[in-house]
Amino acid sequence: MNKRQIQIFDTTLRDGEQVPGSKLNSEQKVKIALQLEALGVDIIEAGFPISSPGDFSSVQAVCKEVRNATICALSRAVEKDIEVAAEALKYAKKPRIHTGIGTSESHIKHKLKSTQSEILLRAGQAVAYAKKFVEDVEFYAEDAGRTENEYLARVCEEAIKNGATVLNIPDTTGYCLPEEYGAKIKYLYENVRGIEKAVLSTHCHNDLGLATANTIAGAQNGASQIECTLNGIGERAGNTSLEEVVMIMKQHPYLNLDTNINTKKIFETSRMVSELMFMPIQPNKAIVGANAFAHSSGIHQDGVIKNRATYEIIDPEEVGVDKSSIILTARSGRAALAFRLSEVGYNLTREGLNTAYKNFLKYADTKKEVQDEDLHKIVEECNLVEA
Ligand code: KIV
Ligand code: ZN
Repeated sequence: MNKRQIQIFDTTLRDGEQVPGSKLNSEQKVKIALQLEALGVDIIEAGFPISSPGDFSSVQAVCKEVRNATICALSRAVEKDIEVAAEALKYAKKPRIHTGIGTSESHIKHKLKSTQSEILLRAGQAVAYAKKFVEDVEFYAEDAGRTENEYLARVCEEAIKNGATVLNIPDTTGYCLPEEYGAKIKYLYENVRGIEKAVLSTHCHNDLGLATANTIAGAQNGASQIECTLNGIGERAGNTSLEEVVMIMKQHPYLNLDTNINTKKIFETSRMVSELMFMPIQPNKAIVGANAFAHSSGIHQDGVIKNRATYEIIDPEEVGVDKSSIILTARSGRAALAFRLSEVGYNLTREGLNTAYKNFLKYADTKKEVQDEDLHKIVEECNLVEA
């Protein structure tokens, strides 16, 4: 059966850059954009041009350099925002304006101080205005996660009537449960008139740690575009992380979902983003954390040395990591010690290994991790004979 193609919309340079302290200059934005293109991202959201002159020039610079990916610029449902976004996108080969407005009761009442009918009108007008500048217009219904489905469907219909090519359904506050978010996408897929003319997109925040699960639920229920960032960076607890959703689709073929991502470039892209944006990656982060392919307990190490698949569901090379690592700690056993000793050139007899292991435990109890230089000392101190 043919897999359904999911478009990857990366918003590292826009939602990701909203993280305090992560501001990028134009040169850095271009560098990341070119890496995202090499990674196989379909749409790059390059920024929010009305927000500052610096962001405007960065979006323009990205448009001049990127060849194949669509370049998207964010705007509110405000004419001036849309005009500035269109101007910033002037040099893009494939430009897209992303415009929208809050649709939940909370946003309409407290933020926009408006009414449902007025928001419906403004949504349609914003799309129609953006259409004057570009063919490809994405509409976002901010806080769609907390918007009642029937009203959300009416807003989506209005956006499609005015020419929206993509409907973004953000769980802006990261509130939804996966079943609820999946059901929302399914409801829109089945009930919005004209839905066949547009693509449904997920955009999930991670306030409850559910961004990835919600995104996959959305894709399983009819969304064909996923919005995400490298390392899951973004407002507050962040966005859906690109590496997680892409690898879920790859590791679970029965989902029948595919992307254009070259997964072998994930690790290098993740490191580039982390370094340029001053956002360290937590060591236990799925796929790209320093410990994602590291084994330190004796039981796991013994299994991995015999067969990697006993404790690893992803081949590290698939995501651009050279190999799994066996970390020597006080929890390691003889198998791990023998493995690491052989890596630095010692193949000991059984007896020799037993002697070395006793000495190793003394080192391990005083250090968090036993390193290669310690291994040489351990062997030399014991005057060991090789096998
Ligand atoms: O989280 C959100 O709702 C957004 C929109 C501006 C797309 O980032
Ligand atoms: Zn967002």
